[in-house]
Amino acid sequence: MRSISPFRYPGGKAFLYKYLLGRMESLPSRPRYYAEPFCGGAGAAVILLKLDAVDQIHLNDADPKVYSAWKSILEEPDRFAEAILETPVDLETWHASRRIVESGSGASFDLGFATFFLNRTSRSGIVIGAGPIGGYDQRGNWKIDARFNRDALAERVRWLGSMKNRIELTQEDALTFLSRSPSRLPINQTLFFVDPPYVKAGGRLYLNAMNEGKHIALSDMLQDGMLPHWILTYDDHPLIRSLYSQQTINDLAVTYSLQKKRKEREVLINDHAA
Ligand SMILES: C[S@@+](CC[C@H](N)C(=O)[O-])C[C@H]1O[C@@H](n2cnc3c(N)ncnc32)[C@H](O)[C@@H]1O
Repeated sequence: MRSISPFRYPGGKAFLYKYLLGRMESLPSRPRYYAEPFCGGAGAAVILLKLDAVDQIHLNDADPKVYSAWKSILEEPDRFAEAILETPVDLETWHASRRIVESGSGASFDLGFATFFLNRTSRSGIVIGAGPIGGYDQRGNWKIDARFNRDALAERVRWLGSMKNRIELTQEDALTFLSRSPSRLPINQTLFFVDPPYVKAGGRLYLNAMNEGKHIALSDMLQDGMLPHWILTYDDHPLIRSLYSQQTINDLAVTYSLQKKRKEREVLINDHAA
């Protein structure tokens, strides 16, 4: 199954859905919950929902742009779908969207749609720091609308709107989100899929509100037993190898035959119970 998230995400994890599905099915009886503290495009989460493998998903992202996009889709799906169908997909809209995301204003529909628009029309889905697909002169082989299939995207957004009562959304720091989770979710029936920014940040692909101290704090939180079911993906970095030396660490590229598609080596780390 291909991703059905409306977003393109550099390094998106939709391809892990089968693995996550297996983990979901090993949770105790339904209802089953699934949470992503660094959700980004939430590629895997929406597939699990579509397959009805999960009853409730909880998405969280600290970035006001990402949060605004999800919030607008969930709260105003028809308006968002209309905007997808009607907005001219050209350089003028691209520049206008850039001005909106760079203005640093708070969460709003306009910020959410501008973020989505840039994600679909910029190289590699990078919202800030990459130019438009096809270049500023639009002389490339691919043009700015190459990844903007209006009908398909509007349909994904309307479907997500129809799932609103099964999707919780928050804009918290991931560490806060995880520490609050035991009081918010039935954690024995919740799988946490944790996909933080790389330790070795590779350019400005997306917000990186992590640093070494926070990577360490995250490892403490995951390994102190508070959350019984979790899966973690990271870049293959010595800090991570050392912090999680007590856990099972698998090479993602080897496990999922992604050698050709990914430049960075990534690892998948499981909780003890897996
Ligand atoms: C690697 S991406 C997640 C990609 C996602 N798994 C997917 O498949 O689309 C990391 C996300 O974490 C968010 N982020 C960065 N630092 C954060 C923090 N401290 N707390 C919460 N979210 C954060 C970024 O905005 C970004 O969307």
